[in-house]
Amino acid sequence: MALEFSPETLKQFEATVARYPKKEAAILPVLYLAQQEFGHISSEAVEYVARLMDQPPARVHGVVSFYTMFYTKPIGRHHIQVCRTLPCALRGAANVTGYLQQKLGIKIGETSADGRFTLSEVECLASCGTAPMMQVNDDYYENLTEEKIDQILDAMK
Ligand code: FES
Repeated sequence: MALEFSPETLKQFEATVARYPKKEAAILPVLYLAQQEFGHISSEAVEYVARLMDQPPARVHGVVSFYTMFYTKPIGRHHIQVCRTLPCALRGAANVTGYLQQKLGIKIGETSADGRFTLSEVECLASCGTAPMMQVNDDYYENLTEEKIDQILDAMK
């Protein structure tokens, strides 16, 4: 069956597009809707969004590949993004990443075999004053220590 939005998401799509003077200006929020609905932005999803937006697929693909918040491959239920920019680096980001890799048994860019966790490194998440930090899905976790990481991961099913 061809990929398409649920009736509810289609309503959200129409409401989103209506907020912009030009349909093409809504491409980022529409891609967010697609990611919420499909889990990641596959090439089939790119084609679908391009059709909805009356845009060439190459343009939609260009947007998806530019922004790190869009996933082109399936990811785990909990997407751990460790900030690696200088303030976090100076406060031990590499130790955070190393500990997570060891604890989860995966490397940067990989997903655990049980599908629970995907581990990524990202640039500054604008929480430098609480370095080192990471984002998991939509939540920030700050002033990280190994003990804190253990508690955070234990709370995630
Ligand atoms: Fe890590 Fe800014 S450097 S949040």
